[in-house]
Amino acid sequence: MSTDHINSISFKVDEINITQMTKNYAQAISKWAYDGLYSIYNHDENFANECMDGNHFAFINADGPLGYFCFGPEARIPTVEENVYDDNFLDIGLHMKPSLIGRKLGGVFLRLCLNYAWDNKKANRFRATIASFNARAINLCVKGGFQIETEVTHLRSQKKFTIVKYETLF
Ligand SMILES: CC(C)(COP(=O)(O)OP(=O)(O)OC[C@H]1O[C@@H](n2cnc3c(N)ncnc32)[C@H](O)[C@@H]1OP(=O)(O)O)[C@@H](O)C(=O)NCCC(=O)NCCS
Repeated sequence: MSTDHINSISFKVDEINITQMTKNYAQAISKWAYDGLYSIYNHDENFANECMDGNHFAFINADGPLGYFCFGPEARIPTVEENVYDDNFLDIGLHMKPSLIGRKLGGVFLRLCLNYAWDNKKANRFRATIASFNARAINLCVKGGFQIETEVTHLRSQKKFTIVKYETLF
C-alpha cells in the first residue's frame, strides 16, 4: 500500500476513488483558489451546473474531492487557428486541489485519469490544451509520455496555449 506524506498532508494513493461529478463536489471545487497566473483555473458558482454534463469526474477520498478531470469539448479552447481539433483524440483537462499541487503528485492523478478513460471509454489517444505559461502542467504531460504538438492562440484572450498528445497501447 503506497502512502504519500507531504508536509501535513497524508493520504493513501490507493484510497483515491473516481466518481461522476456531483453538485456537492462541484460546489466544494468552486471554492478552491489557485494563486497568481493559475487563477485562470478558478471557478465561480456556475461550475456546479456546468459540470453536470456527464464528462466531469472527481477524485475523492474520505476527506472529499482531491481533484477532478473532464473529457471532450470542455477541455478544448476556441482558437484563432482553424481545424485545430479532430475527433481522433480524447481531450482531457486535469486539476488538483490547490493544496496538493507542486508536490509531485500530478503523475499519479494523470495516470488514474488515463486509466479511467481506457476502462470506461476505451480511449487510448489523448490530447490536452494547456496555457503555455503553465510549464508545470506541460512538464507533467511530457514526463507522462505526451508529445508537444503545436502552439495555438486563444480566440478571445489571444493568449498562447500548447497542445500535447499521447497515444498509448495500454
Ligand atoms: C497540472 C497539475 C495536475 C500538475 O501536478 P503537480 O503535482 O502540481 O505537478 P508536479 O509537482 O508533479 O510537477 C510536474 C513537473 O513539472 C515540474 N514543475 C513543477 N513546478 C514547475 C514550474 N513552476 N515550472 C516548470 N516546471 C515545474 C516538476 O518538477 C515536475 O517535473 P519533474 O517530475 O521532471 O521534476 C497541477 O499542478 C494542477 O492541478 N494545477 C492546476 C490546474 C492545471 O494547471 N491544470 C492543467 C490544465 S489541463
